[in-house]
Amino acid sequence: MMKDVTYRIRLYDPNRDSEPHWEAFTIPYAAGMTVLDGLWKVKELHAPGLAWRASCRMGVCGSCGMLINGRPGLACNTQVADLRSPTVTVAPLPNFAIIRDLVPDLMPMIERHQQLRPYIVRDDVAERENPTAEFFQSAHELEQYLQFSYCIKCGCCMAACPTYATDAAYSGPMPLAQAHRYNADSRDGGFAERKAVLAGEQGPWKCHYAGECSRACPKGVDPARAIQLMKRQLVFAYLRLYAQPCPSKVLPKPTEMKRRPDVPEAPAPTIGT
Ligand code: SF4
Ligand code: SF4
Ligand code: FES
Repeated sequence: MMKDVTYRIRLYDPNRDSEPHWEAFTIPYAAGMTVLDGLWKVKELHAPGLAWRASCRMGVCGSCGMLINGRPGLACNTQVADLRSPTVTVAPLPNFAIIRDLVPDLMPMIERHQQLRPYIVRDDVAERENPTAEFFQSAHELEQYLQFSYCIKCGCCMAACPTYATDAAYSGPMPLAQAHRYNADSRDGGFAERKAVLAGEQGPWKCHYAGECSRACPKGVDPARAIQLMKRQLVFAYLRLYAQPCPSKVLPKPTEMKRRPDVPEAPAPTIGT
């Protein structure tokens, strides 16, 4: 059983430092300690000014994403014991500017997410504004997007994506997976509005399907698959590879489309289910 654990932390205070630097702090280990618990101990014993984001402490709010021993993850649901090392190396999520210490600036991700209208868009404005009934959905229709709706917007997938690392114009896995979450929802009619971003160079065509985003996701979401399904839906709709013609402006829902027998099945999930 470990007695102590050493935290190597990448620190940066823009008011004081010209560039980030590393410092090490040793704290007592306690059974069941998470990486987030350890950060609180470091703050209490050694570095009162240390900054990070956290709120729920239960893997729900998405605010404590950071690079832990070289991999993006949530500090609150990573057990120190599971790292199997007496040293915990912690840095802010890569691919984002640093505001201070372990606090990344997630605004580029949030703005791209916002551009893709991550909510249900209805064509029938009168019904949307003054609903007269519920919008029913079958279990099969729910399955088309449910997995992708578990996203907590933590940014770990963005930090893991090699394409986003080299091309900031790319929207990245979180916003694209969330665009697909709504495109695939039988109650939504917003594809025409999202298309401007999806069809441009910010869209899914830059994804190389490396799958690192899905491997990094702490909630078991599979953004890599969402992006491939989105590509498939776009291509098939426009090349009219489906048996029925594409309705004028709105992308047909997967449940409304019948695949031609000569067109292959969708790719399997990138991560285990
Ligand atoms: S699958 Fe696409 S979005 Fe995911 S890490 Fe690879 S390039 Fe990025
Ligand atoms: S897809 Fe996963 S890793 Fe990416 S923001 Fe959502 S929860 Fe975080
Ligand atoms: S503190 Fe909310 S996800 Fe970690």
